[in-house]
Amino acid sequence: MVVPTALSPLAAKLPKDFLWGFATAAFQIEGSTDVDGRGKSIWDDFSRQPGKTRDGGNGDVATDSYKLWKEDIALLKSYGVTSYRFSIAWARIIPLGGRNDPVNPKGIEHYSKFIDALLAAGIVPFVTLYHWDLPQALYDRYGGWLNREIVEDYKNYAKVCFRAFGDRVKHWLTMNEPWCVAILGHGRGVFAPGRSSDRNRSPEGDSSTEPWIVGHNLILSHAYAVKAYREEFQPSQRGIVSIALNGDWAMPYEDTPANVEAAQHALDVFIGWYADPVYLGHYPEFMREMLGERLPVFTTEELAVVKGSADFYAMNTYTTNLCKAGGSDEFRGRVEYTFTRPDGTQLGTESHCFWLQTYPPGFRQLLNYAYKRYRLPIYVTETGFAVKDENSLTMEEALHDHDRVEYFRGMSAAAVAAIVEDGVDVRAFFPWSLLDNFEWADGYSTRFGATYVDFATQKRYPKDSAKFLAKFFKDNIASD
Ligand code: NOJ
Repeated sequence: MVVPTALSPLAAKLPKDFLWGFATAAFQIEGSTDVDGRGKSIWDDFSRQPGKTRDGGNGDVATDSYKLWKEDIALLKSYGVTSYRFSIAWARIIPLGGRNDPVNPKGIEHYSKFIDALLAAGIVPFVTLYHWDLPQALYDRYGGWLNREIVEDYKNYAKVCFRAFGDRVKHWLTMNEPWCVAILGHGRGVFAPGRSSDRNRSPEGDSSTEPWIVGHNLILSHAYAVKAYREEFQPSQRGIVSIALNGDWAMPYEDTPANVEAAQHALDVFIGWYADPVYLGHYPEFMREMLGERLPVFTTEELAVVKGSADFYAMNTYTTNLCKAGGSDEFRGRVEYTFTRPDGTQLGTESHCFWLQTYPPGFRQLLNYAYKRYRLPIYVTETGFAVKDENSLTMEEALHDHDRVEYFRGMSAAAVAAIVEDGVDVRAFFPWSLLDNFEWADGYSTRFGATYVDFATQKRYPKDSAKFLAKFFKDNIASD
């Protein structure tokens, strides 16, 4: 593969149906966790337990978007977005989660109104069905994603949504970042349900087996829901469906065969674990070698359902890692990650997160890699930046989020270069996130918003990055 490294100036307009907008997730913004019949999710109690979030924050209020949704839509409109990616809370639709449990009409009504209002504002709804807030009842009943039972329950939930909203929603994502659900929730134990072999962290869990079982059940749940969509809904509703996969670009630390191989192993576990079955019909060979019998096996019948179970490639990506051979962490493909180059310099601008630095050329390379390997149009469903120590700045200071502006300047230019110069078919770009919000284990200590939220008043204030993005896409999407 020819790997382009230089970013080039915008040479042509993006097509007029290019989608741009912001991304959010229900648990990170909605709050109102006990309103209108919502059932509990695994994040409710987890985030309330002492020590589970960095600042003790939980999802009880978040950005109060369940109540302030009209304001959120007005804000989106003021930015000129053409689309909005948000998620539906499973426990609002089916409070106890399962296929024999009742559907909650108030949950349906809420999202229905929301979708109507988006459409009335000229904004295309881009809907994620599962962004980590599993109904607590399903975890209590049979262990949630650890149990194959979930495949039928998830499919049932997805069908309820397709039936209720599919006349108006034409862009679906079954899941968000299954890697995180499996590894962070069932391996490292830092996300709900907090399972891990580390007994200082979790009373139960087995990090050597559970993540791979969870990953397998996530893939099957996704695939059987897509099968149902294609058979029962897609012919009349004519929407498209995919799964949002996280994955950062992996670059060899130094150009040696061992490090080149290490970078591929990192990609195999980060991306290929999910993308290879879904697009190519098998787990990556390296994962089979690394895990042996711990990697579950698809039956022939299952594989036929899994292979080809997405209409496009939905990419969540934030950074690039330099990869060194010789690590022991299976969750990273036994590869060591670093941002420090051999000469001691940093790869990019540091952020508030240990896992994130700015490196747009890596994004361009990743777009090329994914397009070449999976051969479908790419929708960038998330990318974003947390400015270092932003939470300790005054609001006035935080509004001038220079490093986030530079991040998005680089990432949007990299996407355009991949489209215009490399011929990659990129159709959407969703910065994470519309608002500062509940950043999972970081609570409210890490801000990813292009809009500042004053959590004491819930008032929203556009940061410079929101203005930059609004102008960039206004200037660069063709108008006719
Ligand atoms: C990916 C996740 O989908 C989202 O929920 C999270 O807030 C961002 N990354 C930033 O960490």
